[in-house]
Amino acid sequence: MLNRAKFLFATLSLVLWLDAGTSLAQQPPQQSSKHEQAQQKSQDPWWKHAVIYEIYPRSFQDSNGDGVGDINGITSRLDYIHDLGIDAIWISPMYPSPLIDFGYDISDYTAIDPLYGTLADFDHLVSEAKKRNIRVIMDFVPNHTSDQHPWFKESRSSRSNPKRDWYIWRDGNAMGQPPNNWQSWFGHSAWKLDPATNQYYYHHFYTEQPDLNWRNPQVRKAMYDAMRFWLKRGVAGFRIDAVSRLFEDPNLHDDPILPGKNAYGDPNIAHKYTDNLPEVHEVLREMRKVVNAYPGNPVMISEADEPNIAELAKKVQLPMDFQIADVNKLSAPDFRRLLNEIDRNAVGGQPHYFFSNHDQPRQWDRYGDGVHNDQIAKLMAALLLATRATPLMYYGEELGMRTTEPARKEDVQDPIGKIGWPEEKGRDGERTPMQWDASRNAGFSASQHPWLPVPPSASIYNVVAEAQNPKSILAFYKRLLALRRNEPALRDGRYLPLNQEDTNVLSFLRKEPGRGEAILVVLNMSAEPRTIKFDLSAHGVKGGSANPLLAAPEIGAESTQLNHFSVPAFGVFIGSVD
Ligand code: GLC
Repeated sequence: MLNRAKFLFATLSLVLWLDAGTSLAQQPPQQSSKHEQAQQKSQDPWWKHAVIYEIYPRSFQDSNGDGVGDINGITSRLDYIHDLGIDAIWISPMYPSPLIDFGYDISDYTAIDPLYGTLADFDHLVSEAKKRNIRVIMDFVPNHTSDQHPWFKESRSSRSNPKRDWYIWRDGNAMGQPPNNWQSWFGHSAWKLDPATNQYYYHHFYTEQPDLNWRNPQVRKAMYDAMRFWLKRGVAGFRIDAVSRLFEDPNLHDDPILPGKNAYGDPNIAHKYTDNLPEVHEVLREMRKVVNAYPGNPVMISEADEPNIAELAKKVQLPMDFQIADVNKLSAPDFRRLLNEIDRNAVGGQPHYFFSNHDQPRQWDRYGDGVHNDQIAKLMAALLLATRATPLMYYGEELGMRTTEPARKEDVQDPIGKIGWPEEKGRDGERTPMQWDASRNAGFSASQHPWLPVPPSASIYNVVAEAQNPKSILAFYKRLLALRRNEPALRDGRYLPLNQEDTNVLSFLRKEPGRGEAILVVLNMSAEPRTIKFDLSAHGVKGGSANPLLAAPEIGAESTQLNHFSVPAFGVFIGSVD
């Protein structure tokens, strides 16, 4: 969620090369021996060349007709995920929860909420996923629990309770007001007075999500034990939620006030004393030790929107990159600058890119221009999957799912949409049910009332319809994922930016260090066709042409001259050069 507010405040086909009727699109993805050889040779841990797919479990597949997605629903769709070309799924929280923040308010870290199924269902999911070479990554929420967690119930029961110090309790100020001016990310004061003991507790998010006290060693132990519980069940790692919020200034300095007001009507502030305190890194190091004790190279993905990728990369393998996610306009110079910076990060950390998730309006709406949206969806796919990174997709982006916000305040599910309406409509829009087919509820649920309505676009943008159309967004994603898997240069190769002065077209080479095989990627981020020149001699490319592997809109199979290279509006070209 970290950057949604920032975004709101700030702004508030390809096809393969057709050769006289023979489309690569129609050929099954090659199980190239190149891929297998590279896999065998590679010393890299799996997460360096994996594609990760986020599933919002409430919205993926409902197996029991209650209108809410569940674990058995996910299991039933593993073949789809496998055929798409996904290596790992990250599932948003499924722990027992009063669901104030739809699972990010956890009341038991070592169980499954009955709404989603049982631990046995979870184990079944992991083993079925394993059969398909798909790893399962848990969401882990260390910053806060639910106020219904037994730890918090004990903690609030008296000032002398042994668990009192598991949370952040403080007296109000002399005026009988909250201890200081800290604000919740979800609006208003971050302090809530608890009348039972007449002290305030700190909550960075909703009032029902009290922050844990990470300076207390017992808290750390309990949380690390919870991680071990899931590692023992075979999970492949964790996406660590809101990790930069773990610590607050013990001296309770007021945060600096900034000009203007936020969507909740509060003065803007810099979260200087509640965000990214140095101790966060110590905790990440400890978590990494916990995780490293288990076989299979479990991964840690961090949710942190700080421009400190280099710092984070020392402690977690995959720091989610919010800078790339939130460029929010198709700008070749902006993407180039960030890609260059991140690629050169001082510690050589693996970039981890994404454009959409359960907290961000979908990329369709943030990058589409209203005219070329299908084409732009393919362009964004290429930007995600052809750059040097571990890509993270969000369910339904491969279909062109769009953000569908609630029309009326009374329809809103996400509490921030209720607090901030109408400026902040909450995150329901990006959490609507997966669009499987054109039937009622898009094949998501047999219920009369799915927890969120199915968007009208589901009649056209759905798995069944798109699977039958070789020019669909889904078909493009599948081909691109297969290409990435089969071409070591594209998957693991170096990233070499090209034509760095070009303000419209983002181009780069991906080059395998060993054999030197190179792939040219050309992304026209403008609404006009462009003709450009490439001189790749400095990169050891001697030939004067590129052989298309995948392009959108589709083009013929003939090679393209590098000194007169035409790319249509929002066009994508991926081709080999040598
Ligand atoms: C993270 C989650 C978001 C949640 C918040 C509080 O930002 O991604 O969905 O509301 O943490 O747990």
